Amino acid sequence: MKILGIETSCDETAVSVLETKNGKIKVLSNTISSQIKLHAKYGGVVPNLAAREHVKNIEHVLKLALKQASLLKSDFNKIDLIAVTRGPGLGPALLVGITFAKTLAWKYKKPLVGVNHLEGHIYSNFLGKIGVNYPTLQAKSYKLFPILNLIVSGGHTELVLMEDYGKYKIIGETLDDAVGEAFDKVARLLGLGYPGGPAISQEAEKWNFQFPIPARPAGRSNFQKNSKIQFPRIEFPRPMIGSKNYDFSYSGLKTSVLYKLRDLEKAGIKITDNIKSEICYEFQKAAVEVLIKKTIKAAREYKVDSLFLSGGVSANKYLRKQLGLEAKINQMNYSQPELEYTGDNAAMIALAGYMNYKNPPSHKASEGTVKNSWKSVEMDANLGF
Ligand code: KG4
Ligand code: ZN
Repeated sequence: MKILGIETSCDETAVSVLETKNGKIKVLSNTISSQIKLHAKYGGVVPNLAAREHVKNIEHVLKLALKQASLLKSDFNKIDLIAVTRGPGLGPALLVGITFAKTLAWKYKKPLVGVNHLEGHIYSNFLGKIGVNYPTLQAKSYKLFPILNLIVSGGHTELVLMEDYGKYKIIGETLDDAVGEAFDKVARLLGLGYPGGPAISQEAEKWNFQFPIPARPAGRSNFQKNSKIQFPRIEFPRPMIGSKNYDFSYSGLKTSVLYKLRDLEKAGIKITDNIKSEICYEFQKAAVEVLIKKTIKAAREYKVDSLFLSGGVSANKYLRKQLGLEAKINQMNYSQPELEYTGDNAAMIALAGYMNYKNPPSHKASEGTVKNSWKSVEMDANLGF
């Protein structure tokens, strides 16, 4: 069976062809056109601009995805199912993908499945590299369920308990900014551009701890004595790390970076490249530590067998390494997506769509989703589990 996946929930126009055969899954193509450069000058994604770019690019991206999968446009009859993201995401952007998918489904008389973007991220853990036959989910060698999913992206920070295919329960989420959003905002404060996640993690790696902030800035002989500010350490809070629930909060952490920059400036300390790197290192450490502590605590309480990481922030090297180590210490199966499936992509949407098509679930995320007709798939920008 060949599944065409379409994803336009944010600033990536993505199309993918997936093949399922003899119990194996193979990604035939994973084409992504990113709008990062366009939105960079605004420091974040502008919904109407994103939609306009999707409209411009989607047909071309489809052609490339078919070509990469060794299909001609005239081979469309070889596609058995179309899966499209119906939410959550930016309304205008989602509408482009949904309208495009509906048109294809209507024109070529194909079944259409609407997919929850977050469910897509979860399924990114079950995708192998392009062209490689990958065992289906059921063929995993270990007991999968229950799975605790940590989904971390620019719009979400969620702990989702998955008791079976299609059975989800949110046990914790952010009360304000998502963790990826905090990376983006801190990067903006530091003039590191957009998206902030990759920039911050690269800067953090450069930090040379042998050259701390000078205890006494040049020309200020009595600075340390008169200042209330403690140097050279830069430390940030771990918001809600000890709270009883599994919710998160990242807006205060971002603000504490802002205050630290102001304090340094007031004290006449020049923000050198090394100080910038130290701020990135300490911010990343604080952000990741909260994620890990809460995730492991929840995983223990819910006695899960597996721990899955996903979403754009799952590309973060430090998070991948630390969470993997903690999972090992706690004897849990651990999975993280291949790097090419951490950000938004259509292969994960194709797989989630296929799973829902094969086993129509009864969970809330799929209400009005698996009706298999172009007529019934509707956009829901705030779709939840
Ligand atoms: O899943 P995604 O591609 O889009 C959304 O659904 O939001 O996630 C994008 C987010 C951005 O906030 C970006 O800064 C963050 O993922 N990100 C990272 C890294 N790579 C991307 N955050 C931390 N470290 C990274 N290496
Ligand atoms: Zn995403």
